[in-house]
Amino acid sequence: MIKRILGVGVGAGILGGLGFLWYAWYPALPKIDPPKASQFSAEKIERGRIVAAESYCVECHTRQDGHAGPTLAGDYKMVSPFGAIYSSNITPDPETGIGNWSEDAFRRALQLGVSRDGSHLLPAFVYDHFTKMSDADISDLYAWIMTRPAVHMTHRQNDFPLSVTPRIGLAGWKLLYFTPGRYKPDPKHDAEWNRGAYLAEGAAHCGACHTPRGLLGAEKLPGYAYDGGAVDGWTAPPLNEKNPTPVVWTENELYQYLRNGVAPLHGPAGGPMSPVAHDFLATVPESDVHAIAHYFASVDHADERVAGDAAAIKQAMEDSKRDLIGFNTDPDARLYQGACAACHYNAAPAPVLGRPELALNSALWLDEPTDLYLIMMRGLSNKEGQTGVAMPSFYNALSDHDMARIAAYLRRTRTNMPPWTDLDRKAAEARKLVEEPPVNSSH
Ligand code: HEC
Ligand code: HEC
Ligand code: HEC
Repeated sequence: MIKRILGVGVGAGILGGLGFLWYAWYPALPKIDPPKASQFSAEKIERGRIVAAESYCVECHTRQDGHAGPTLAGDYKMVSPFGAIYSSNITPDPETGIGNWSEDAFRRALQLGVSRDGSHLLPAFVYDHFTKMSDADISDLYAWIMTRPAVHMTHRQNDFPLSVTPRIGLAGWKLLYFTPGRYKPDPKHDAEWNRGAYLAEGAAHCGACHTPRGLLGAEKLPGYAYDGGAVDGWTAPPLNEKNPTPVVWTENELYQYLRNGVAPLHGPAGGPMSPVAHDFLATVPESDVHAIAHYFASVDHADERVAGDAAAIKQAMEDSKRDLIGFNTDPDARLYQGACAACHYNAAPAPVLGRPELALNSALWLDEPTDLYLIMMRGLSNKEGQTGVAMPSFYNALSDHDMARIAAYLRRTRTNMPPWTDLDRKAAEARKLVEEPPVNSSH
C-alpha cells in the first residue's frame, strides 16, 4: 500500500517535473541580419517613438549612475532586495545589443519575458505589464528601436544570484506570479477609458511603482491594485480612493500633473515621478494623457467624492493663514515660518501654481514622513514639478531634529492623521537615502 502511494507520488512528481520543463522551455529564435532603416515607414517609426515614450524604455535602458551612458545601450542600475540588476543594451548593435533579433523575438521578450536565446528574463523588465501591449504597438516599437543608433557596449555584471543559477528558476516565479496576455477591453466602459486602462496597465506600467509588492517582488494583485508602493526610498502614493489627500484627484488634476508635472491643487511631481511626466508623457499625444487621467479618475471614483473639495480647500487655506496671524508662541511654528512659510504661505482663496499648499500635498498625509523628508533634504530642481520653478535643498540648513520638528508640526496643524512616530530616526534614514540614493529599486 505504502509502496503504491509512494509510486503514485513519484509518478505525479515526474509528470509535474515534465510539465514544468514544458512550461519553462523556450527555443532560441534564429538570428537575422539587422533590418535596414528603409524597411520602415516614417509614420511607423513615429508611432513607435510614442509607444517607447509611453513605456519609458529609454529611462530603464540608459545608464544614469556614475555618468550618463549612451541612449538605450543599457547598464541602468536597478536595486532589488536581491541585489543590483543592470539592464540590457537594446540598441541595434548585433553583438552587444539586439540588432539580430527578429520582430518575433522582440515581441516574445515583451509579451513573455523570454530572451532571443530562450532564457527567462528578470521581472525587473516589467513584462508583467508589457504583456498587455498589442502586437501592432510592439511592431511599431520594433521599427523605432531598430532605427536608433547602434552602440557597442556591454553592461556590468548583475550582482544577483539568479544570474549565476540557471535562469530556469525564473520560470518558477512566472508560474506563480505572471499572467501573460493582451489587454482585454472592458465593454462596460467607453473607448477613452479603455485606451487609458490599456496604457496604464500595459506600456505605462503605473502599478510597477504605485502597487505594493509582496514577497519575491511581485505586485500584490488584484485586491491591492494602486494601494501605493515604494521606489528609490520614496512612497508612490495610492492612486485609488485610498489616496489620503483631502482634495480629490479629479481628471483635470491628473491630466495637469501627468502632462505638465504639476497639479493646481496637489502640487508638483517630484523624485522618480518627475521623468514620467516631463521626459515621457509631455512628449506623447495629448489625447493619450487625457485617457490615462480619465481612467484614474474612475479608479479613484473622483466624481462621487469631488463635492467635498470646496470645503477642504477653504479649511486648508485657513489652517495655512493661521500661522502668520499675530505672534505665534509655538517654537515649531516659528521654525516653520522662518524656513518654509515665505514660499508656502497662501493668502488667496485658492492655492497658486508654484506655491504649493502643503495642507493639500500628499507628503503630509502619507503613513510615513519619508517623502516630506526627501523633499526637504533634496529640494526640487528646475526640471521637477513646475518647469523653471525650484525649491532649495535644506540638507545643510536644517538638522535632522529641525526637520523632525517641522514634520511633526505640519502633520498636527495641517492634517487630521495620527502623529508620525520615531521622527528623528527616520530623518537620519532619509538623509542616508539622499547621500547615497538607491539608483532605482525594482520600479
Ligand atoms: C523598469 C525598467 C525597464 C523598463 C521600463 C524597460 N526595461 Fe527592458 N529590461 C530591463 C531590465 C532590467 C532588463 C534585463 C533583464 C534580465 O537581465 O533578465 C531588460 C531587458 C530587456 C530586453 C531583453 C534583452 C536581452 O538581451 O535579453 C529587451 C528586448 C528589452 N528589455 C526591451 C525593452 C523595451 C522595448 C522597453 C520599452 C517598451 C523596455 N525594455 C522597458 C528593464 C526595463
Ligand atoms: C518610477 C516609479 C513611478 C512610475 C512608473 C509612476 N509613478 Fe506616479 N509617483 C511616483 C512617486 C515616487 C510619486 C511621489 C512624487 C512626489 O511626491 O513628488 C508619484 C506620484 C504620483 C501622483 C501624485 C499622488 C499624490 O497623492 O501626490 C500621481 C497622480 C501619479 N504618481 C500617477 C501616476 C500614473 C498615472 C502613472 C502611470 C502613467 C505613474 N504615476 C507612474 C512613482 C511612479
Ligand atoms: C524658496 C522657496 C521655498 C522654500 C523656502 C520652501 N519651499 Fe517647498 N516648495 C517650493 C516650490 C516652488 C515648490 C514647488 C516646486 C515645483 O513645482 O517645481 C515646493 C514644493 C514643496 C513640497 C511638495 C513637493 C512634492 O513633490 O509634492 C513640499 C512638501 C514642500 N515644498 C515642503 C517645504 C518645507 C517643509 C519647507 C521648509 C523646510 C519648504 N518647502 C520651503 C518653494 C519653497
